[in-house]
Amino acid sequence: MSNLKCLVGALAATFASFVSAAQADTIKVGVIGPLSGPYSLYGQNFQWGMQAYAKVNGASVGEHQVEFVYRDLPGVDPAKARALAQELIVKDKVQYLAGAYFTPNALSIASLLKQGNVPFVVLNAATSSIVEQSPLILRTSFTMWQNTVPAATVAIEDGSKKAMTVVSDYGPGVDAETGFKETYEKAGGELVETIRLPLTTSDFNPVAQRIKQSGADTVFAFFPAGAPTLGFMKSYIGNGLAEAGVKLISTGDLLTEPDLPALGDVALGTRSTYHYSASHDSPANKAFMEALESIGADKTKVTMAAVAAYDGAKLIYEMINVTGGKQDPQTAVDAVKSMQWESPRGPVSMDPETRHITQNVYLREVAKEDGQYVNKELKAFEAQRDWGLVKN
Ligand code: PHB
Repeated sequence: MSNLKCLVGALAATFASFVSAAQADTIKVGVIGPLSGPYSLYGQNFQWGMQAYAKVNGASVGEHQVEFVYRDLPGVDPAKARALAQELIVKDKVQYLAGAYFTPNALSIASLLKQGNVPFVVLNAATSSIVEQSPLILRTSFTMWQNTVPAATVAIEDGSKKAMTVVSDYGPGVDAETGFKETYEKAGGELVETIRLPLTTSDFNPVAQRIKQSGADTVFAFFPAGAPTLGFMKSYIGNGLAEAGVKLISTGDLLTEPDLPALGDVALGTRSTYHYSASHDSPANKAFMEALESIGADKTKVTMAAVAAYDGAKLIYEMINVTGGKQDPQTAVDAVKSMQWESPRGPVSMDPETRHITQNVYLREVAKEDGQYVNKELKAFEAQRDWGLVKN
């Protein structure tokens, strides 16, 4: 081989290794969520949470640049969820997946993780069984059981004797109904009716009439946060259920902060149980709000999805750190599945048994502070695990 050929070959090899080192140094994180359509606010909240975390902690972990790759999944569409996740793994070569607003989408992504060799941080989907589908799943959001057991306890403490439930007829709705029923009946209450409505329901006036006639003193309701929750709340108010003596108790999904102005003063005092309120009074939440503002987020539109993404990014950064940027998903998950930290929502820890977040659940009521509607926290149910998987 001539000297010139040797030199050209050596240069080419150096260039190739330079390119692959540069590529290896960018760790991609695929984030799937609703960025368009009726739930787009929640996908935007995923983005805000991730961006705020990167703003505070830097865009790299050690020498590894972190790049978030967003994909739009507007509604419940498990086939599309699977296709997007597959494309992110195979074509974009992401090392981590995150997101999933809806349960059916999370379930269909779960089946790809082992083969794809990627951990998946669930940022919203709240059916308990999701984490059981793969040892590579972690969840930083909430479960319906986690937020519903305190809701049923509050109803009983309020003196409720007869209740009914109205839920969306899919995974989280069924979990919410079961969690409410078990807790309420165990405490001596009588559940007089359970209604499951199709996810596509947009007219809630007929069900509001049924609630009025049920003889229940309390209704527990769950729908996925977005158009259905606003629709139900308007029907609850418009049909005069509170005046007719039927109290509402729900998880915070029905009363996310961006919807409160549309409900107005008549919603003042409405109570719910949830793991995050944008007005949570702590230094960590104040810093979170400032970080959100610094990346251009609208502070009046911050929801549970932003805090789940912020904490989800924390787990991903730590997984990149412990694996030194290598694709070693089981080592990565094992390293973070017992983590504890101070979240903007309060003290949290990962439960190594379920890989789901343990957190305070707060009883809140809609209030007005400085002209803004807020979910004012009244009391904390501390360190709630996912009661759907870990029984009391
Ligand atoms: C879900 O599909 O798991 C889900 C969606 C929206 C919510 C809660 C749960 O507000």
